[in-house]
Amino acid sequence: MNVKTIIQNRREITSYEDKAIPDDVIGELVDAATLAPSGNNLPSREFIVIRNKETLNQLADTPATVSWLKGVSAAIVITGRPDVSKYWLQDSSIAAGFIWLTAVDQGLGAAFGAIYHAQDPEESEKREHYVRESLSIPNDRRITAILGLGYPAEHPGAKTPPENSDLVHYETFND
Ligand SMILES: Cc1cc2nc3c(=O)[nH]c(=O)nc-3n(C[C@H](O)[C@H](O)[C@H](O)COP(=O)(O)O)c2cc1C
Repeated sequence: MNVKTIIQNRREITSYEDKAIPDDVIGELVDAATLAPSGNNLPSREFIVIRNKETLNQLADTPATVSWLKGVSAAIVITGRPDVSKYWLQDSSIAAGFIWLTAVDQGLGAAFGAIYHAQDPEESEKREHYVRESLSIPNDRRITAILGLGYPAEHPGAKTPPENSDLVHYETFND
């Protein structure tokens, strides 16, 4: 698929076929994650690939909007290292985007579960604590997101750019 087709077909997919993801496909996702750019090229993000059903079911109970983890074939937890780079959040978010697009290219669907909450430290702590304890993640790592992955059982259809978008400005903010 070309990049535009992948971008248009990337939707949040929350229902999946009961089908395992082959190792080589997981390898493509991991490559995308680690090839993604990072500020100053620093290794400020790490990834945990999970395929164990028991662990996935446990993560589905994270106090966040991730109940779809009960149906996924795999998940990738994306963590960030504030001790390595001040750009850890951007770095880990960009990596999530790269994984998501690669998943589409591989015929997979993905869902994004926000764990880190920049505006609400208490909420963030609640979500991160649960995932940290479940996966033995060290305290100095932040937990940006969980991406759920699987072969789509349903697809809402491709996206097209909204017409007359107010979101885009040219030359200055007010056009
Ligand atoms: C930063 C961010 C946080 C998100 N958090 C969640 C979440 O916690 N749970 C969830 O089910 N979906 C989450 N999503 C998915 C969005 O709701 C979804 O991408 C959006 O509704 C647009 O739909 P689309 O992905 O099909 O284009 C998140 C997406 C982004 C980019």
